[in-house]
Amino acid sequence: MKKIALMTSGGDSPGMNACIRAIVKTAIHHNVVPFGIYDGFQGMIEKRGSVMNYQDVDNIIYRGGTILGTARSEEFRSVEGRKKAIEYLKEQEIDGLVVIGGDGSFMGAHLLGQEMDIPIIGLPGTIDNDIYGTDHTIGFDTALNTVVEAIDKIRDTASSHHRVFFIEVMGRNAGFIALNSAIASGAESVLIPEEVTDVEKLVSQIKTQNKGRRSTIIVVAEGDDKGGAKDITEKVTPHLPGYNVRYSILGHIQRGGSPSAIDRIIATRMGAHSVELLMKGESNLMVGVYGDKLSTCSIFDSINKNAVPELTKLDLLEKLRTQ
Ligand code: F6P
Repeated sequence: MKKIALMTSGGDSPGMNACIRAIVKTAIHHNVVPFGIYDGFQGMIEKRGSVMNYQDVDNIIYRGGTILGTARSEEFRSVEGRKKAIEYLKEQEIDGLVVIGGDGSFMGAHLLGQEMDIPIIGLPGTIDNDIYGTDHTIGFDTALNTVVEAIDKIRDTASSHHRVFFIEVMGRNAGFIALNSAIASGAESVLIPEEVTDVEKLVSQIKTQNKGRRSTIIVVAEGDDKGGAKDITEKVTPHLPGYNVRYSILGHIQRGGSPSAIDRIIATRMGAHSVELLMKGESNLMVGVYGDKLSTCSIFDSINKNAVPELTKLDLLEKLRTQ
């Protein structure tokens, strides 16, 4: 293993820079040349990358986003696109590849691995936490803290005005951010894609919960089956005469900001481990963290298995209902 390429792909997440830093430092430490590819698979197709050194990763551990840039590449979905990418990796004499991203990025990595004989390691980088094979993805903890801080602020104004607030959070098709932020902020209800939302029940719940309270907060996962916060607000407001109802969509602030200590630490551990795995001759693995231990599963499993063990989900929902 003389030269490894690294890239970030899909939606950025806080902690990606900490991960890049760890990969670059670990590689150089072992006399392996780190080669950064810009803007994900699209940059690979367009042949954009460069050798990285210690200076490139100086003081980036605390920065959000990704210094390598990222993209969601349509072109990489085609065989033609992947051919160009493979050509570039060959030209650059790349011996191994580390992909930091979510399930879409792992899908790309998996296809690449089938069409080119190159060892690949995936690292889970997404705020959504929707990846099988790890308790936490890089960026989830920071996003969660950002969401909780925002909900706390909305609670202040909601309580001042006796309001019912629907707050929409990211997560794509998964309810991890919604469920966990609802618990952490003491929200009255949460709507997640993993459960069918019963609008009638929700209305009666709001009426009961609102009695004697100055505010009611309902966290809505963007992937909920009845739509986002705006749709739900429009559906329930006619059934809540006399109630002061508002909605707020938190949006992309959830993806930015300086990573939390937890995200910096897991990103650093995973990044360093990815280089060690490549040096041991491992391939097609995703590095995860279970409890406090690093673990691995096949990239194929990380794409194909469900990230939400039934018990965990129900257990969390139960906690919210009884708090
Ligand atoms: O996967 C991360 C994520 O932030 C999701 O939570 C969200 O649905 C999506 O990316 C938004 O993507 P974009 O920034 O391309 O609109």
